[in-house]
Amino acid sequence: MKYIVKSMVPVAVGCLLTGCATSGVRMKAFSSIREYTLKNKNGMIVKITNYGARITSIVAPDRDGNMADVTLGYDSVEGYINAIDRPYFGSVVGRYGNRIGKGRFSIDGAEYELATNNGENHLHGGNMGFDKVVWGAEVVENGVKLTYLAKDGEEGYPGNLKLSVTYTLTDDNEIVMHYEATTDKATVVNVTNHAYFNLAGEGAATINDHVLQINASRFTPVDEGLITTGEQRDVKGTPFDFRKPKAIGKDLETDDEQMKFGLGYDHNWLLDRKGDGMETAAVLHEPKSGRILEVITEEPALQFYGGNFLDGRLVGKSGRAYEHRSGLCLETQHSPDSPNKPDWPSVILRPGEQYDTTTIYKFSTK
Ligand code: BGC
Repeated sequence: MKYIVKSMVPVAVGCLLTGCATSGVRMKAFSSIREYTLKNKNGMIVKITNYGARITSIVAPDRDGNMADVTLGYDSVEGYINAIDRPYFGSVVGRYGNRIGKGRFSIDGAEYELATNNGENHLHGGNMGFDKVVWGAEVVENGVKLTYLAKDGEEGYPGNLKLSVTYTLTDDNEIVMHYEATTDKATVVNVTNHAYFNLAGEGAATINDHVLQINASRFTPVDEGLITTGEQRDVKGTPFDFRKPKAIGKDLETDDEQMKFGLGYDHNWLLDRKGDGMETAAVLHEPKSGRILEVITEEPALQFYGGNFLDGRLVGKSGRAYEHRSGLCLETQHSPDSPNKPDWPSVILRPGEQYDTTTIYKFSTK
């Protein structure tokens, strides 16, 4: 395993804090942004930056050993800061990944109001979510551990949350993501990785010919604002049935209300789990290259987002435009709006408890 640590292309730290695009003055703080390169014995390369705890590159072999970068993103911090419509490329999202209806929830009778940054709803942690902050970083065996202290009241959330994500790359071509957190006040936590994949290589055309299998018999229907209605619907006979491998494009244009709300696939599947250990949630296969991505997790649900909001305006690291549906996310998590669904698995973390969850992206070919 080799590590190369380099500073990412510098821009002004003022932009980090305010979202501006001008160059600025506080270069010192900016020098804390780094990119870590992990390489395994098979030549697979994964790059991670502490800006947003994000994966910036995944170079993986196809069935003939040809390497390609299979995740969307940029080669400078500036690219991530300035990306229009905030695609969350490769980042950790939270404190609550996904949506919370009207940005409100309560714990033990205390009501909390979060930043609303997605219409009337809260999405991926709010205005200054975990994707927009600089994390602490230390090199660990075969990887990097990133840490962040989310302060009590940040974006409206209660409790000082001490969070870490450790990324390691194994010689079995697995990216292991281990999340740990503690709090000093009852809070909600639901963090996930928001990498976009195109197994033909980033910048290639639509992912609609990728073949996807999701181990789930039910999904959670949503309203127009993509907030879960509380229903858990059988996938049988719907476009959401991925129990057997299916090309993503196959049922994409069917006349289904849920597909209209999501503008395609942007939904949450309830995984058919045997227990609470590591189990395969989804398998993605790109037939031409033969590349396979298996998502293995301890989490109860999976958001499959089909890149419906990509529209060609973002130009990625290799100079190619990211066209409509040219990347997809497979986000392991608890279902959207769980803080307001008392019967669903709890997302509350209390003082003295340890949040501890692992997800693996495993690459292979056939
Ligand atoms: C959500 C989409 C959202 C996207 C932003 C996904 O996780 O499901 O609705 O637009 O993130 O990149």
